[in-house]
Amino acid sequence: MQSVNDYYSAIQLRSDRWSALRAATAALARDPSGRKADALRKEIERLFDALALVETYWAFPGVQAFDHLRRQFEHGNLDDLAFGTHRAARALATGAYRRRHIPLDRDSADAEDHEDEAMLSPEARALARHYFEVMIVDDLNEHQERWLRNNVQRMRRPEDPFVYETVVVPSLEDALIGILFNHNVQAVVVRPGLTLKSKTDLPILKRYLNRAGGAEGIESLKAEDYGPELCRLIAKVRPELDAYLVTERSVEEIAGLDLGICRRVFYNQEDFLELHLNILRGVQSRYKTPFFTALVEYSKQPTGVFHAMPISRGKSISRSHWIQDMGAFYGPNIFLAETSATSGGLDSLLEPHGPIKKAQELAARAFGAKQTFFATNGTSTCNKIVVQALMRPGDIVLIDRDCHKSHHYGMVLAGAQVVYLDSYPLNDYSMYGAVPLKEVKHQLLKLKAAGKLDQVRMLLLTNCTFDGIVYNVERVMEECLAIKPDLIFLWDEAWFAFARFGPTYRQRTAMNAANNLREKLRSPEQAKAWEKQQEKLKDADEATLLKTRLVAPPEARVRVYATQSTHKTLTSLRQGSMIHVNDQDFKGEVEQSFREAYMTHTSTSPNYQIIASLDVGRRQVELEGFEFVQRQVEAAMSMRKAIATHPLLQKYFKVLAAGDMIPAEYRESGVESYYDPHQGWTDIWECWERDEFVLDATRVTLAVGGTGWDGDTFKTKILMDKYGIQINKTSRNTVLFMTNIGTTRSSVAYLIEVLVEIANELDERLDDASKMERLAFEHRVKALMVDLPPLPDFSRFHDAFRSDQSTTEGDIRTAFFLSYDENNCDYLALDGSIRQAMKSGREVVSASFIIPYPPGFPILVPGQVVSEEILAFMRALDVNEIHGYRPDLGLRVFTEEALDNLVKNKLPKAAE
Ligand SMILES: Cc1ncc(COP(=O)(O)O)c(C=O)c1O
Repeated sequence: MQSVNDYYSAIQLRSDRWSALRAATAALARDPSGRKADALRKEIERLFDALALVETYWAFPGVQAFDHLRRQFEHGNLDDLAFGTHRAARALATGAYRRRHIPLDRDSADAEDHEDEAMLSPEARALARHYFEVMIVDDLNEHQERWLRNNVQRMRRPEDPFVYETVVVPSLEDALIGILFNHNVQAVVVRPGLTLKSKTDLPILKRYLNRAGGAEGIESLKAEDYGPELCRLIAKVRPELDAYLVTERSVEEIAGLDLGICRRVFYNQEDFLELHLNILRGVQSRYKTPFFTALVEYSKQPTGVFHAMPISRGKSISRSHWIQDMGAFYGPNIFLAETSATSGGLDSLLEPHGPIKKAQELAARAFGAKQTFFATNGTSTCNKIVVQALMRPGDIVLIDRDCHKSHHYGMVLAGAQVVYLDSYPLNDYSMYGAVPLKEVKHQLLKLKAAGKLDQVRMLLLTNCTFDGIVYNVERVMEECLAIKPDLIFLWDEAWFAFARFGPTYRQRTAMNAANNLREKLRSPEQAKAWEKQQEKLKDADEATLLKTRLVAPPEARVRVYATQSTHKTLTSLRQGSMIHVNDQDFKGEVEQSFREAYMTHTSTSPNYQIIASLDVGRRQVELEGFEFVQRQVEAAMSMRKAIATHPLLQKYFKVLAAGDMIPAEYRESGVESYYDPHQGWTDIWECWERDEFVLDATRVTLAVGGTGWDGDTFKTKILMDKYGIQINKTSRNTVLFMTNIGTTRSSVAYLIEVLVEIANELDERLDDASKMERLAFEHRVKALMVDLPPLPDFSRFHDAFRSDQSTTEGDIRTAFFLSYDENNCDYLALDGSIRQAMKSGREVVSASFIIPYPPGFPILVPGQVVSEEILAFMRALDVNEIHGYRPDLGLRVFTEEALDNLVKNKLPKAAE
């Protein structure tokens, strides 16, 4: 039996122990007096002991059935034991217990029970009543518990839309462990008899308590406050759940308390029907999908099509002689749901009043936003919408230079004055990290000193980056607000939509941080802390301000936007994205310009299937996002562990850990790696709470330079061509494996198998290699792992595009449009003429965006001065794709004359 320390997740531990118990009981039943019988008996006993600690948190098979199995073992009923264990383990693995009652004894199991779950059609599964579990928190004896369960069960009615089972835990701590362990729980009923502490001492379960963060200090609670406090804590860790508080305290007393997500307070302990109806209604409110449902209804109505969409209802296909295969491939429903109508129960994305509006409101609730807007053409468009809505020409924006290209184009369109921020470089792996807070503060303080703070409008950062570096969002915002209290934040969370549904991840999402900040800024403690710090920092110099953790003034405005590619990390058709808004001044100041920007960039023919998929994707995350994200993190963690501990893989590969991708100065916790072969798993909660940057463990960067192949070759020639494994990001010596909510343990196992095979082949090849071949291999590895060109910083905008020298902002729009006139541009060859021009003292200025893939962000933007470092980097790049660069002509640069004219006239401001 593996030790608890080998497990990252209690879920995997539970599932592995059930499988082991199934195997051991079957073996013992087959040969009860065989050679191995004694060992098997010991093993079964150990497994029962281990499972007993975790089964109390689950409704199936339930403590009673579990104890019954155990008694069968003790009484030597080995066949019954093996039968029951087999059924329980199988039902757990297939999820059959969610669809029907699974009796564990042979007499009750009828023929229908043997039906193979795997054979169920998708339609049958879709029509089955959905199952969930309700956690009741009360310290009850066996008799009381049975009475309670029976009462709840008696409330079931045939017309109920869902079916649920109950699981009873005694204490506040057990409830917290329970909701973080048992993903089937959708509602929690908190009754007055609950106690405080859990009796479990299983570390893997106790670890969950850390995630409730605020659970510290609960020791001093009065017993009567346990219930309300539990409701508050549930809101923190699983805000999507419903809680019901049953209390004996007076209405007045309860009214004054923070009850978190409590949907209803019950004063009558025995009102089971009301409770039952409320529980169902609570889940129903998450289950409903206004737009998807409207579209399904619409597609059932007979309609005559007299609008411009021949594919609608499949008409142009079914009458065709040549394109019927498309109809056969997609099936009829997608065409029945294709329409350009905005009436008949549907809605208009551009002017939503009906089901799209409702769907967006539900999405706002799910993601913790105040408003949410759907987009049907990706986060590329969302970014442009937000930038246009908020930036006026001439406003200053601070932005990470290695952000997605949609932002750079957004800056051009908005006419913003751009201050590019440098991320810390990871030269060893040819990739960038993220922008240190010190750099952001430094730029803000410089702008303040130059008297330009009024012009500064927005800070735009990527959270998390493609490679998985995640900001301490709340801290960044608070410290920036301390310098500029009305600063607006746009967090590009294209890769981070899923984060809301993992408690550890959630704390670093823009919307969660915005909600926390709102609460914090309202508190009297914050006002006091701010006043105290003001006093202390009265004459502080920049160095002191950079070192100090700044406190935001109570009057600071919380103005936060996040854009998410729902389609990248959650269920949605491609291009389905969302803009989440949490801006205190949205209604007063932004709504109108936001509408205009939305109109500018949104098609008047938005795709309904994408909108419907966003609606359904939202339903999914509200009901099972927690489970899926938990599984995803588990899959990624087991992948990290498997690669890190496999002796053969270690020879050629390395999984980059937090310590490789985040310099020590940004990791206050000191945690280097989330898994250590000697110490086991680190609880990542602590680093996620404190460190300046953390690593999203679900994105696994593998250094492959040791194989002698560069990242791109490894991706295309080895992974793709040979093994059919697709990935989409590489650096010079790394490849990135992204897990997602669909990643399974088997897909991870397959990847590991492939890597082992690659390593084996390499071993064999090197075994047979000649001395020369070996030397060549070593050279290649050295070139990939050691001789790496340093990553260049942003140089600067040419003076022609700057208003003065005091700060670094540049007018990218003028530069961009200046290049529209061919006469203003010239081409210089990378090796010869640029070097000569620079030697002669000329400032060479790029006329276009130059974007090499990888790394995929501009190393030059229009108006930027070419530096020696950038040239060296470009020359050393051995990638095939460099957007904006013409190898036949060279680099497109501005003529000296064009720049001189601009400087002289500070005209022609070509674009205005
Ligand atoms: C950080 C970032 N933002 C935005 C986008 C664009 O998202 P979409 O593909 O949804 O348009 C991407 C795409 O890769 C990205 O990496």
